[in-house]
Amino acid sequence: MRTIIEPFRIKVVEPIRMTTRDERECFVASADYNLFGLHSDDVLIDLLTDSGTSAMSAAQQAALIGGDESYAGSPSFFRFEAAVKSLFPFKHILPTHQGRAAEAILFSVLGGSHRQVPSNTHFDTTRANIEATGAEAVDLVIEEGHDPDNLHPFKGNMDTAKLERFLANAGDAVPCVMMTVTNNAGGGQPVSLANIRETAALAHKYGKPFIIDGCRFAENAYFIKLREPGQEGRHVEAIVRDMFAVADGMTMSAKKDAFANIGGWLALNDDHLAQSVRERLILTEGFPTYGGLAGRDLDAIAQGLKEIVDEDYLAYRIRTASYIAERLEKLGVPTVKPSGGHAIFINAKKFLPHIPPLEYPGQALAVAMYIEGGIRSCEIGTVMFGRHPDGSEHPAPMELVRMALPRRVYTQSHADYIVEVFETIAKNKDKLTGMRITWEPERMRHFSAKFEPIS
Ligand code: F0G
Repeated sequence: MRTIIEPFRIKVVEPIRMTTRDERECFVASADYNLFGLHSDDVLIDLLTDSGTSAMSAAQQAALIGGDESYAGSPSFFRFEAAVKSLFPFKHILPTHQGRAAEAILFSVLGGSHRQVPSNTHFDTTRANIEATGAEAVDLVIEEGHDPDNLHPFKGNMDTAKLERFLANAGDAVPCVMMTVTNNAGGGQPVSLANIRETAALAHKYGKPFIIDGCRFAENAYFIKLREPGQEGRHVEAIVRDMFAVADGMTMSAKKDAFANIGGWLALNDDHLAQSVRERLILTEGFPTYGGLAGRDLDAIAQGLKEIVDEDYLAYRIRTASYIAERLEKLGVPTVKPSGGHAIFINAKKFLPHIPPLEYPGQALAVAMYIEGGIRSCEIGTVMFGRHPDGSEHPAPMELVRMALPRRVYTQSHADYIVEVFETIAKNKDKLTGMRITWEPERMRHFSAKFEPIS
């Protein structure tokens, strides 16, 4: 059959409150044209993030009831630890309340001024946690990863030639080598198993631990199965184990590929490093058998990890993104190719060439998507990256709008609706105007900046 059906039935529903175009014009104006300022019940299709927005399964809901809330030594922790270790065979598993907490704890020990941490592309919380310690976060993704139209199957790959030069020059300044799978900040693009192994071998050649940011590990493993020669006959679980077998640790947000609404972990093999971070964990997150989470959350993660490696789910997941991207391309809406796992990234620079980067074409498009169809997305362009610490403003390398897909939440008719909204936008796109910022905070302006349309 050509139709890939949602591999689940719906047992509990959450109503969407319908709104009119006129109402949405008022809502977005009173949010100062910043979509983070909307009340989420004024949104019809919420594609702001795939983080913490997944639908839980019946088995996960049942696991919540079985959660044990003991402060220390809870059976929920041991179920969580066993589920994590069955996919990621690291020695020490430290739960945290979300992914950035794992990053903060890790870099409180590994960071510091004059240190440099290479990765394919650091996600912004990883970068911020590294920089907060005075260290530098360095991105070394392959050249193809910067080109939205390049069809390379693994555009998240590390440029290993650059990494080798970097390690040879930077020497003792490098505390570890990192790798983000899939590469969220680079368009949700996967990394090949061969590249993971090569990167690990280079890190080890220079005596550095190799740490994977594994947020979307299952999607990455499924892309390896689909696209990497020799991997097609293997089960995703086996590929996951291979990806992590060469690593010395991982950071994880369970809000992505563990189907949880909250949670994360830091995993490590090194006893000494684990002891240092455990002390930090107790200080900021909690006792090491709950790490900032309720027992019920640990149980939801344990069950979610069993479900995320289901290949029927992953086929539906990856196909949803490519289905929307293909239909948008047919309408003349350019997207980052090939489509990634968790999101569709629209190339707003190419779609709206009449809006200059400093009038924020991505923001203009995101606002139009909300007004036209109640769709909430996220600008990833000059609004997010254009303001520099010295106060200057420069266009970002790409002007993207990310439509992130919550897991198991929306159906094919929601996907068709999204495409239909773009039909209207594409017809009238020449009438869209840019935006002006009327107020912005000193840091992370995309969350709270105020805008007005340029008339
Ligand atoms: N690493 C990656 C690759 C991420 O995508 C995220 C979060 C984190 C780390 C941090 O995890 O949110 O649990 O603290 N990404 C979300 C997003 C926020 O919308 O892409 P967290």
